[in-house]
Amino acid sequence: MTMRKFLLVFVLAVHAGSSAQAQVAEGRALYMKVGCYQCHGTEGQGGNAGPRIAPGPMAWEAFAQFVHNTSDAMPPYSDAVLPDMELKVIHAFLQSIAQPTPVSQIPLLNGQRK
Ligand code: HEC
Repeated sequence: MTMRKFLLVFVLAVHAGSSAQAQVAEGRALYMKVGCYQCHGTEGQGGNAGPRIAPGPMAWEAFAQFVHNTSDAMPPYSDAVLPDMELKVIHAFLQSIAQPTPVSQIPLLNGQRK
């Protein structure tokens, strides 16, 4: 294999492996940039101005439908302002947020000090 071919294969392999991670990082950046965090918290945990939206965000169709069309306390983000391509990446970020450890599995919260 020539050096050039080797490099190409290497770059493609690294790219494929990290694309899901890259999407999550991009989603987090967009989530911050368009201001979702201001009401929903930096991890979607909720805050004074908005409810918890992660972990376990709504399914994609309902999520997109809501974000584009809501007319209640949350301002709608029309498709022109936040196209599905970008919203999908935000959704991927919210989906990547792990469930917290259940209280029953945290020793300190169960009267066990060790
Ligand atoms: C100005 C504050 C504000 C901003 C900014 C905001 N939201 Fe909201 N969001 C709300 C409030 C308040 C609700 C509760 C429903 C309502 O009254 O509109 C909500 C509800 C939601 C829900 C529905 C939750 C459920 O379980 O019913 C989703 C999903 C959501 N927001 C996603 C987003 C995303 C994604 C962004 C960024 C693109 C965003 N929000 C930006 C305030 C905000």
